[in-house]
Amino acid sequence: MVAAGLDGRGTLLLDDDHVSLKRAAAIIKAGGLVAFPTETVYGLGAAATNDEAIKKIFHAKGRPQDNPLIVHIASRDQLTLVTNQLPAEAGPLMDHFWPGPLSLVLPRAASIPPLVSAGLNTVAVRMPDHPVALDLIRLAGLPLAAPSANRSGRPSPTSFKHVLQDLAGRIDAVIRSKACVLGVESTVLDLTGSRPVILRPGGVTREALETALGRSVPLVGQRYRGAPPPSPGMKYRHYSPRAPLLLVTGPEERRKGFIAAYCAHCRRQGLKVAYLNRYISGPGLQSCAADRIAALLYRALRAIDTADVDLILAEEIDTAGIGLAVMNRLRKAALRTIKV
Ligand code: TXA
Ligand code: MG
Repeated sequence: MVAAGLDGRGTLLLDDDHVSLKRAAAIIKAGGLVAFPTETVYGLGAAATNDEAIKKIFHAKGRPQDNPLIVHIASRDQLTLVTNQLPAEAGPLMDHFWPGPLSLVLPRAASIPPLVSAGLNTVAVRMPDHPVALDLIRLAGLPLAAPSANRSGRPSPTSFKHVLQDLAGRIDAVIRSKACVLGVESTVLDLTGSRPVILRPGGVTREALETALGRSVPLVGQRYRGAPPPSPGMKYRHYSPRAPLLLVTGPEERRKGFIAAYCAHCRRQGLKVAYLNRYISGPGLQSCAADRIAALLYRALRAIDTADVDLILAEEIDTAGIGLAVMNRLRKAALRTIKV
């Protein structure tokens, strides 16, 4: 039976059983938009080969047209629709990390409309490690272009409820499934230059890439003045919660001391302060494993948004492993960084 209902604003809620996914696939084949779960965050999917459907993604998200989308495939056979040239490192990386949170930037094939890649002659592609995502792509019978299913500038959604907070009434359907396990987006690795470079740290760690490739893999700088950034997404201050976020960096003891004093000061001024750590792990961000912080980060930022606070305080974490992706998101969400 197809379990479906409307959310009240015209977006269809579909369950994640096979029959419901067939209905979702039909919507995609007809040029519609369906939000679906992946192991990283929810994606907003459309047929990657359909120019009109791609336009709808940019419109629904309010996304700048110069920020390209990631194409999702369910099998390597579908690669021929996406790219016609595989750099030497591509095969071994796919063997090692797919399905999984690694998006590879490759030369773009003509069957992918330029709009998907914001006019670039490259395209980012990944095979998600999620049974629902893979089934949906297989049933649709074509690759799906899918950015994160949030309004542009909001934290990425890690549950279908987050998708509805941002996009109810703006998209055709959302698949009701469990919360996303990783909680931060895929690593974007560019294979079109003289050596592989990380454009966005994410679910596959830099260390794991370096081990697999047997060489160092640079993370391209996040600050670009003048020259166009290698990944257009870099120039936007993504992942912004509604209240200003201050990121406190420096030795742990000094951070804690500063935060205690600052919170007391704000309270005296009548300001409501949210301490991000408490929303994730209780007393200290450091005391919590980085993968747990990653999994709960966006959910915490959204919870703080609804708590209607004046200010958010966050602490830096170690950049080993998935910590690099967490710090990248915190820096982008932050209005200011305070070094103590
Ligand atoms: O985990 C993820 O990657 C999720 C799920 C849904 O797969 N998707 C996601 O998409 O995070 P989005 O659109 O929010 O982020 C895509 C990032 C952007 O920073 C964009 O600039 C970069 O990938 N990107 C996409 N295509 C690119 C290309 N051809 N060259 C350089 N960067 C590209
Ligand atoms: Mg996004």
